[in-house]
Amino acid sequence: MRLAFLSLFEGYFFMTPNYFEPPAPLIEIKDLRFGYSERLILNGINLSIPKGQVTAIMGASGGGKTTILRLIGGQYKAQSGSVVFDGHDIGKLSTPELMSVRRRMGMLFQFGALFTDLSVFDNVAFPLREITELSESMIKDVVLMKLDAVGLRGAKDLMPSEISGGMARRVALARAIALDPELVMYDEPFAGLDPISLGTAARLIRRLNDAIGLTSIIVSHDLDETFQIADQVIVLANGGVVAQGTPDEVMRSNDPLVHQFVTAAPDGPVRFHYPSPTFAEDLGLPVVAPIQSSLNSNMSGDGA
Ligand SMILES: Nc1ncnc2c1ncn2[C@@H]1O[C@H](COP(=O)(O)OP(=O)(O)OP(=O)(O)O)[C@@H](O)[C@H]1O
Ligand SMILES: [Mg+2]
Repeated sequence: MRLAFLSLFEGYFFMTPNYFEPPAPLIEIKDLRFGYSERLILNGINLSIPKGQVTAIMGASGGGKTTILRLIGGQYKAQSGSVVFDGHDIGKLSTPELMSVRRRMGMLFQFGALFTDLSVFDNVAFPLREITELSESMIKDVVLMKLDAVGLRGAKDLMPSEISGGMARRVALARAIALDPELVMYDEPFAGLDPISLGTAARLIRRLNDAIGLTSIIVSHDLDETFQIADQVIVLANGGVVAQGTPDEVMRSNDPLVHQFVTAAPDGPVRFHYPSPTFAEDLGLPVVAPIQSSLNSNMSGDGA
């Protein structure tokens, strides 16, 4: 009896070898360096995005969060290092290869608006009509399914001007998942939403992630909601990753940069000001002793 129990017990662990292993990464970023011009924005980023999880990327404004999403989507190429999506090194793909990898990604842009002259239905149908060869009747089924998933099937015939900001965000989300992506990247999905819509949007992102088996990356400044729905939080500062862990681990971090971030302190190791000449120099006043450095030297933190 005892033996039978033991072998059952062992069988359970041996037959489920992934029981204790973390989920495999969908994206691995190694030693990534990138700047739009001479100013380096990302200076040696290492991070991994596990499959099936919700990962939040947080950090000061201007720190390079949107830039990381653009590098994952292949809109820009790293100056050095690599961004690997499910085994594909994004920077080394040919254009057709990149296009086919991109079809596996959905993106909710930071300032992404709906097409104002298209109805809610047609907004969600847009990528299906552009990219697939589906018949109109199949497109209708898919669009209604996606709108249902975000709770807006009943709003299908409305125009963007007739819906609220929170609803528009949900329509954009339905559009981002129209092509059944494996990865959805949300850039500031909560910006400008009232607390109720914000909570709804956050829970929706979590629910869609789990129900459809997505992998989600959220870039957000909203600490509370984001920490509630994320499995993993990555904090960027001064061109690097200063924390990567569960929301609890990040909350408890003693690192001054992370502490400034999670306590929302306006100034600290991350500067409020975008790099600039001194105020006196900008006003054309003579520089008086003691001579100040002509540039504040922080690499990130736009103070937007
Ligand atoms: N297309 C571009 N050309 C030149 N510089 C850019 C471009 N896009 C962004 N930058 C600069 O790169 C830096 C990082 O920008 P990014 O948009 O990635 O920041 P962010 O972390 O997303 O900020 P926010 O939280 O304000 O959205 C900023 O200093 C910005 O001015
Ligand atoms: Mg951004």
